[in-house]
Amino acid sequence: METKFIFFSGKGGVGKTSMACTTAVRCADQGKKTLIVTTDPAANLSDVFEQEIGHNITLIQGTSNLFAMEIDPDKATEEYKERLLAPMKQLFLDEEMIHVAEEQISGPCTEEMASFDKFVDFMEDSEYEVIIFDTAPTGHTIRLLELPVDWSKHIEESAKGSGQTCMGPVSLIQENKQKFDAAISKLRDKTRTEFIFVMQPEQTSLDETLRASNELERLGIPTSKLIINGIIPSSEVVTPFFKKRHEMQHANIEKAMKTFLHIEIKTMELFDTELKGLDMFRLSGEKLFSGVEIK
Ligand SMILES: Nc1ncnc2c1ncn2[C@@H]1O[C@H](COP(=O)(O)OP(=O)(O)O)[C@@H](O)[C@H]1O
Ligand SMILES: [Mg+2]
Repeated sequence: METKFIFFSGKGGVGKTSMACTTAVRCADQGKKTLIVTTDPAANLSDVFEQEIGHNITLIQGTSNLFAMEIDPDKATEEYKERLLAPMKQLFLDEEMIHVAEEQISGPCTEEMASFDKFVDFMEDSEYEVIIFDTAPTGHTIRLLELPVDWSKHIEESAKGSGQTCMGPVSLIQENKQKFDAAISKLRDKTRTEFIFVMQPEQTSLDETLRASNELERLGIPTSKLIINGIIPSSEVVTPFFKKRHEMQHANIEKAMKTFLHIEIKTMELFDTELKGLDMFRLSGEKLFSGVEIK
């Protein structure tokens, strides 16, 4: 079985976490072993699932096959350093040398590298049928995705030259190049990875989404779907205030359809409550998928 990866991206507050959780609960209810991971440092999966989650894969209560994890950048850094140093510790058993190596891998990009390394670990996974990434706001995500492209090059060039990279000796991280290359090729493979942008039915949100989608395209990663979230239900359009907003929203949906001609667009209505808890995600799931199985 090949794991399917689904990324949710978009600006803060547009509904990424809500749509990622809606999709995760839907997949789990279809009997798929599903993991939702957030790489957003301002993660709130614990709040929406109303249980403690944190830096460990945790079963969501009330399900038998939905798991969640919030990547903690500090813990990811510790784990990453330990993993790099483990072979050295076996080889030398010399405190001084290990200390030197530790200094070398404590460079400025170690933390970024570590978070990405953790993320790439999931791209190697085969335990889950679906892995959903609830990512940090747009700019940050694209930067993370650009990293392996850079690192791959960086590792290659350093191996030819001084043998030093910004994260320490090349020999220590050489194995990562293969791992990153494999992750990039999965990210670019439409049959393995879906990249979904969430936006609000507003001009600024559309502009931002187009920019982000173009940046991804430059990295060779196509956008597969767009979710326009927060549409006022027609039944509620009974005052001039809501009529005006409703018209604005629909004008922007049309613009989005013209802008993203070949991309599937789904709309999601605005609920009168927050999106939180399994029952609510099942309800939003019915609206989002209208009975359609996610392929
Ligand atoms: N369709 C919707 N109807 C009602 N509330 C929504 C809807 N989508 C999102 N929300 C609420 O808006 C807030 C921001 O959504 P969230 O999914 O956390 O955004 P993001 O992850 O992009 O920052 C949350 O309180 C969420 O419950
Ligand atoms: Mg969020």
